[in-house]
Amino acid sequence: MAGLASTNIIGVIGAGTMGIGVAQIAATYGHQVKLFDQNAEAIERSLEQMKKGLDKLVSRERISTEESCEIIDRISSCSQLEELCNCSLIVEAIVENLEVKQSLFKQLESICNNKTILATNTSSISITAIGAVLKHPERLVGMHFFNPAPIMKLVEIISGKMTSIITAETTADTALAWGKKVVQAKSTPGFIVNRVARSFYAESLRLLEESAGSAASLDAIIREAASFRMGPFELMDLIGLDVNYSVTQTVYESFYQDKRFTPSTLQKELVDGGLLGRKSGQGFYQYGDNVQRSEPDSATSSFAPTSIVIEGDLGVAKSLLKLAVSQGLDVTEKRGEGLIKIAEATLALTDGRTATKRAKEEGIENLILFDLMHDYKHNTRIAIAPAIQASAAALDQAI
Ligand code: NAI
Repeated sequence: MAGLASTNIIGVIGAGTMGIGVAQIAATYGHQVKLFDQNAEAIERSLEQMKKGLDKLVSRERISTEESCEIIDRISSCSQLEELCNCSLIVEAIVENLEVKQSLFKQLESICNNKTILATNTSSISITAIGAVLKHPERLVGMHFFNPAPIMKLVEIISGKMTSIITAETTADTALAWGKKVVQAKSTPGFIVNRVARSFYAESLRLLEESAGSAASLDAIIREAASFRMGPFELMDLIGLDVNYSVTQTVYESFYQDKRFTPSTLQKELVDGGLLGRKSGQGFYQYGDNVQRSEPDSATSSFAPTSIVIEGDLGVAKSLLKLAVSQGLDVTEKRGEGLIKIAEATLALTDGRTATKRAKEEGIENLILFDLMHDYKHNTRIAIAPAIQASAAALDQAI
């Protein structure tokens, strides 16, 4: 099966974060693109943003000035939905709401011919449910790009119960022709990535609600201890808090209010206040030319150890031994239960229990737990947690 040839016109509806990215991709691969948004200003704004992005690519010599101009020229903005009548594929990237999407696709059916593939970039809504109101649901498919669409390689192609094989395959092959990696997914709530990612966001939001750390500190830990490109709060700000919240709500309701997917009241409050992240200028962080970025909290200590004792096998944290030696510490190894002793402090890798509980259960006086890391030797930040019973001096020594 072949994807759509570059002579085919592509329609994009919704010129927000995702729509403009999809338009840029299709235009990069030679398609004429028709871009529609109910808000004409959104089109102008997004095109301006896209041009800035392309200028950067030109300055980094990733594309030539001519290529950049060609991409821009291939995208035309439309003021009427009817102008999309001759598109071979229309990708919808409007608000994440079932009824609004259904109503748009019903309208499109009356505008386009039967051969037009109708694709939705929905993050979580059932393709089967969107298609239920259509005369020809077999040509509706999920084409789920990730943010930022021109950069992220993955595209989930989602078939609803009525999606035809030819629709899914043509869409998948088109995404492949656009340089993407394609994964075929079923129309389950959140599909694959957004279902798995719910826990990442939910747990991070709970940590913030419990004041376990500031957004900047939690993000820094995820980046610098776990080697993620972005922390959860930076990512939610990039996605848009309204979109992220709405996806959580859909997945929560779709799984009959399964507690694991409970939406966050903190996130709702931000959405209600119009604090939607980068696109509105403020979310967990503030954005703008003269805004100072929030810094993570970093503990400091004046204690300088000269020796440490390592008791037993540190397991996944083994490389700390070599690190200590390379830093000139005098390391003594002993039998034991995988503990590090520094002056009066005892450090142990977390096993899920709180430091306070473990200190009591194991009778350890000055217990400080340290967290899992992707790479103990090279990552630059580590989270530690003292037991309530631990002394201030022990914490200082652990730091
Ligand atoms: P956005 O809020 O940045 O942009 C949505 C655009 O759609 C706005 O410009 C709005 O004016 C327009 N719009 C809303 N209703 C419309 C209608 N009935 N007709 C025409 N235009 C309409 O939203 P974003 O983030 O681009 O999300 C769009 C879709 O893509 C959603 O379904 C979302 O779940 C999905 N998505 C979002 C991702 C993200 O990281 N933001 C990632 C992957 C998918």
